[in-house]
Amino acid sequence: MGWYLWMGLVTWALAAPQGVAQPAKLTRGPYLQLPTHRSMVVRWRTDRESKGYVRWGLSPESATNRASHKGILSEHVVQIDGLQPNTRYYYAVGTETNRWLGEPGPAFSFITSPAPGTVQPVRVWAVGDAGTATTNQVNVRKGFEAWHARQPADLWLMLGDNAYSTGTDRQYQRAVFDVYTDLLRRVPVWPTLGNHDAYSADSSTQSGVYYDIFSLPSRAQCGGLISGTEAYYSFDFANVHFVCLDSHDSDRSKGGAMAEWLRADLAGNSRDWIIAFFHHPPYTKGSHDSDKLSDSSGRLVEMRENILPILEAGGVDLVLTGHSHSYERSFLLNGHYGYSTNLAPSMVLDRGSGRIDHEGAYKKDAGNAAHQGAVYICAGSSGQVSGGKLNHPANWVSLNKLGSLLLDFDGLRLDVRFLGDRGQVRDYFTLLKKP
Ligand SMILES: [Fe+2]
Repeated sequence: MGWYLWMGLVTWALAAPQGVAQPAKLTRGPYLQLPTHRSMVVRWRTDRESKGYVRWGLSPESATNRASHKGILSEHVVQIDGLQPNTRYYYAVGTETNRWLGEPGPAFSFITSPAPGTVQPVRVWAVGDAGTATTNQVNVRKGFEAWHARQPADLWLMLGDNAYSTGTDRQYQRAVFDVYTDLLRRVPVWPTLGNHDAYSADSSTQSGVYYDIFSLPSRAQCGGLISGTEAYYSFDFANVHFVCLDSHDSDRSKGGAMAEWLRADLAGNSRDWIIAFFHHPPYTKGSHDSDKLSDSSGRLVEMRENILPILEAGGVDLVLTGHSHSYERSFLLNGHYGYSTNLAPSMVLDRGSGRIDHEGAYKKDAGNAAHQGAVYICAGSSGQVSGGKLNHPANWVSLNKLGSLLLDFDGLRLDVRFLGDRGQVRDYFTLLKKP
C-alpha cells in the first residue's frame, strides 16, 4: 500500500464520527432448547451486549409477536410461551434497535412438541463424538440431511465429546455452531457430557462451557422427574421418554444421587418407550475397552455394573452411547453386567439380527415391564473412526465406519438405522412391542 494511501486511510479513520453505536452482529445461533408443547427457548450470541428479542408467528408474514429477556446481554436466552402443540412457528431474533438478524421462513422455524403422550411418528437423530470440525463430521451430517429432507427430525441427541479436544467455547463454535448452523435453527438439541467436554466444564457446580451453552431441564420442564441438576435429566416427547445420564463427572455408584433419581424417574414413567443416553459404552471393543477397569478410570465398568441394572429394571428399550469411535450394536440383551467373558446365553434374549426382513424384529411386551430386553449402541463415529478389535460378544455388529443414528418411532414400533457418511444404511433393526 502506498504511503499516501495509508496516511489517507488513517486520516479518514480519525475523522470518522465517534461514539455512534454499531448494531450488534449475530455470532452464534440461533439455536433451540427445552422444547415443550407450549414453549420453546431460543438462544443466540451477539458480538456486543444488547437487548434481545424474538419475533414469532404462525407464518413468516405474521411473525409479529414479541418476547425478550431481561437486561442487556451478549448471550441471549428467550423463552417463548403460549404456543400451540405440534405447530410450526416462524421466528427471527434481533435487537432493540428493531434490527432483525435473519428473516422468519423455513430456515428459521420450529415445530412445538406434541401434547404429552400423543402417539405420532417421531424421528430422532443422534451423533456421537462428532466434534472434530473435520470433513468427516460434515460428511456424516450430509449423510443424514437427505433423510432429514424427506422427513425432518423432531429432535437430536449429542452423545458427548461434542467439541474436541477440550470443549472450549472456541471449539464448540467450530465443531457445533459452525457445522450444524442450519439444523440448530430448526431442531432442538439435547446433549450429554463427554470426557472431552468435561475439560472445560464441571458437573458438581454445573458450570463451564458445556453448562453455559446448553439450557437443560433440571426442573423437569419438558416432562420426567425433577433431577435438580443439568448434568442428568429426563424429558418426554410424544410417547417416548428420554433419559440423559452423566457418565463422566457425576457419581456413578448404585446409591448415588444420579442412581436414586434414575430409579424414581423410571418408576414414574408411563410413556411407551424409554431411551437412555450417556457417553461411556458398557459393551465396547473399539478405541475403548469395556473389559478394562483402567479404561477411562473405570467409568465404562461402573456404568455397566451400577447403572444398567437400574435401567433394565425400569424397562429401558434402547441405550445410546459413544466414546469409542466406532459403531457397535448389541443383540437384545438382559442382565449382562459383568465382563465379556461372563456373557451367558441366557442374557441374550434374541440372538438374531433384529431385522424385520431377515431374522425378524426384536419383540417386547408393551408396558415397560422390567428386564424385557434392551439394545445397546455405541455410535461414536460421527466425526472420526479409531478402530479397535471390535469383537465384543454382546454385539451383533461392530463397524469401524463413520456414521450417525436415525430413530423412527411409530406407535409401538421403533426402527433404528445407522447412516453412513453418504446417507447409506450400514445397519438397521426394528423393535416391536406387543400391545
Ligand atoms: Fe469420549
